[in-house]
Amino acid sequence: MFEKLQALPEDPILGLMAAFRADTAPRKIDLGVGVYKDEHGKTPVLAAVRAAEQAVLAEQQTKTYVGPGGNEQFNALMTELVLGSSHSAVTSRRVRGIQAPGGCGALRLGAELLVATGARPTVHVSDPTWANHVPLLSNAGLKLESYPYFDRPTGKVRFEAMLERLDALPAGDVVLLHGCCHNPTGADLSLEQWRKVADVLLKRRLVPYVDIAYQGLGEGIEADAEGARLIANTVPEALIAVSCSKNFGLYRERVGLLMVLTESEQQTNAAASHLRKIARGIYSMPPDHGAAIVARILSDAQLTKEWRNELDAMRERMLKLRRALSVALARTCNAEVASAIENQRGMFSMLPVTPEGADKLREQYHIYMTRDGRINVAGIGLDAIDYLAEAVGSVIGR
Ligand code: LMR
Repeated sequence: MFEKLQALPEDPILGLMAAFRADTAPRKIDLGVGVYKDEHGKTPVLAAVRAAEQAVLAEQQTKTYVGPGGNEQFNALMTELVLGSSHSAVTSRRVRGIQAPGGCGALRLGAELLVATGARPTVHVSDPTWANHVPLLSNAGLKLESYPYFDRPTGKVRFEAMLERLDALPAGDVVLLHGCCHNPTGADLSLEQWRKVADVLLKRRLVPYVDIAYQGLGEGIEADAEGARLIANTVPEALIAVSCSKNFGLYRERVGLLMVLTESEQQTNAAASHLRKIARGIYSMPPDHGAAIVARILSDAQLTKEWRNELDAMRERMLKLRRALSVALARTCNAEVASAIENQRGMFSMLPVTPEGADKLREQYHIYMTRDGRINVAGIGLDAIDYLAEAVGSVIGR
């Protein structure tokens, strides 16, 4: 049976990790996978995570199963972190969160729930979107189409074109939106733009599917969730996939949440029962450890404060890197490229580099980025800024 299988190419993002590790050049820069790095190039375990983890290990009484819905304390605390405890969807109990194995697991659960409704809607994703959105959603059996989003030369959102497309979609279709820190472009919607999008979704009876994987890494914990909060306040039904990989630095622990919002508490409970059944049929139950750590942090005021401070420091460092890279790129590229880097938010920016340009940067300069020109800003060392700007200038030009 298996002799028919041909070896596949590496994943466009994860394959870069292995290629970078294998590169023996003395000077090399990893701008590939979206992982935060400090000024020493390390991805440390956050101090708040370390403390919570020790408390969890000391206090844990059993290793028995948690159930397909996962840790209910985590589900409630994370729902409040994203939407805010006084959000109407929370107080009216029209929203429920279910723990998932990472943001990817959450996205897949939501996709399977859409399939379970029997409606089989088309999901519209931004052009471009995170590469893994495509298999996560389409492997569940959903059809994908894209809406205009990013203008490569200026690095800005093509908002009018986006809105026009959304305004022409058939009722019942699903629109995937990046809650903040758009992956792969770093180009986010303003609050005013979120308002317009929410109004169109309501008018056209479209269902938003918000993916929020970087809360706190763009403008701040509250500001980064404003789009998702506004959406959940405007439309009757929505899905929200959440990841704790980046903002809690829990990448390998696979911690995520899928929230479902419906018109009534009763409908939400019914949808949650489907989600538990779907989870049971795929992986049975999510892993406990990472979610227990997050629940410990968010239920302890001191740990929450410590975590928020660490998150603020990560965000500040990335903003500093953006400013420094922007100044350096102003010398080697055109002004639009430079200002886009400064104005975009989160871990990623997308440079107007061709796939061949990205290959040249990897082969000649040992700078690793995906072939669409996406860079992980957190991967840049301050001492490498000029080297990077020179190299990028050599493939983009003025
Ligand atoms: C990324 O976009 O690099 C991260 O979200 C990691 C991943 O799984 O692709």
